[in-house]
Amino acid sequence: MHPSSAPSPRPVLVVKSGGQQAVADWQKLFAEFSPALEVRGWDDPEVDPASVEYALVWQPQAGRLARYPRLRAVLSSSAGVDHILCDPLLPEALPIVRMVPEETQQRMAEFIGMSCLLLQKGFPQMLAQQRNRHWREIVATRLASEVRVGIMGLGALGAQAARYVRTLGFQVCGWSQTRKSISGVCSYAGAQELADFLAGTDILVCLLPDTQATRGIVDAALLAHLPRGASLINVGRGAHVVEPDLLAALDSGQLASAVLDVFEQEPLDAASAFWAHPQVIVTPHSAATPSRREKARQAAQAIAAMTRGEPPSHLLDRTRGY
Ligand code: NDP
Ligand code: OXD
Repeated sequence: MHPSSAPSPRPVLVVKSGGQQAVADWQKLFAEFSPALEVRGWDDPEVDPASVEYALVWQPQAGRLARYPRLRAVLSSSAGVDHILCDPLLPEALPIVRMVPEETQQRMAEFIGMSCLLLQKGFPQMLAQQRNRHWREIVATRLASEVRVGIMGLGALGAQAARYVRTLGFQVCGWSQTRKSISGVCSYAGAQELADFLAGTDILVCLLPDTQATRGIVDAALLAHLPRGASLINVGRGAHVVEPDLLAALDSGQLASAVLDVFEQEPLDAASAFWAHPQVIVTPHSAATPSRREKARQAAQAIAAMTRGEPPSHLLDRTRGY
């Protein structure tokens, strides 16, 4: 560097993920993966908005991202980006990168595999019996090889989950916009094949993104297409499920049981009927959260790609909405 030239300012990344107490951790991690970045907390009053080039966020307040005039990209702290797209002031052309490290794919696959086994073995009923100190033998009526798992959404997470659930011995099909070719997994595509897909599904997994087309998709009409006594695993978004329709299907016996990880309102309201429902296992949006280290590594890789002028992995297609 010429002795008289001022050091060029480092690009600033603001972080809203994990709260103020996580900022030091993020700074340490990015110092390792992307030392050229200056990492600052979301609410740091000393940050000049004009210096901010990247934002790593979970549920940013509406209008905040529009305040950074030189923002080059938003890095979602999660795979889903509904928490960013709901901002009515979000600049239209702003690139958004989803957070899908391999760790998330593996964690999601394991969670879905575990849930399929829990449902097949009757764990919701056994847990309900335990709460009531009630002893009654429950024997799974079918082996995994006799149970058909249907995964709605065969994207970055769904495809990996399909392969994993297959290795546990289940029969696996998937449903997506476009047809897929995954060894051992049958593929249904588009609205016209949804009813056939559902008719052959004993455990339905919802792993769709939250878009205009998928919001409220798991309603009474969809559940009625499943064989009587089927089960549901919702790991997509709470907005996919019409909660009163799900409760009615559980109460009528159309659905035997459900594992629910995501809800319309999170945290789940204390008054929700799901908490104590004897056929339901509730988990607190914990299916696949990767470590902070993996998030920092993936965000740094995305920024490096964009700095080279290349598209980062898992760039959101704003037209499709996922
Ligand atoms: P992707 O964008 O990689 O995949 C989305 C899949 O959904 C694709 O297969 C796509 O079809 C399919 N799809 C989208 N819209 C439709 C539609 N209208 N009809 C039929 N199929 C459709 O997403 P990911 O796999 O990375 O993530 C999926 C979602 O999982 C996230 O958006 C998030 O909501 C949720 N998630 C939940 C977590 C949790 O902890 N509970 C953790 C991480 C993610 P096609 O391939 O043909 O385009
Ligand atoms: C999500 C995530 O999108 O945890 O829910 O990545």
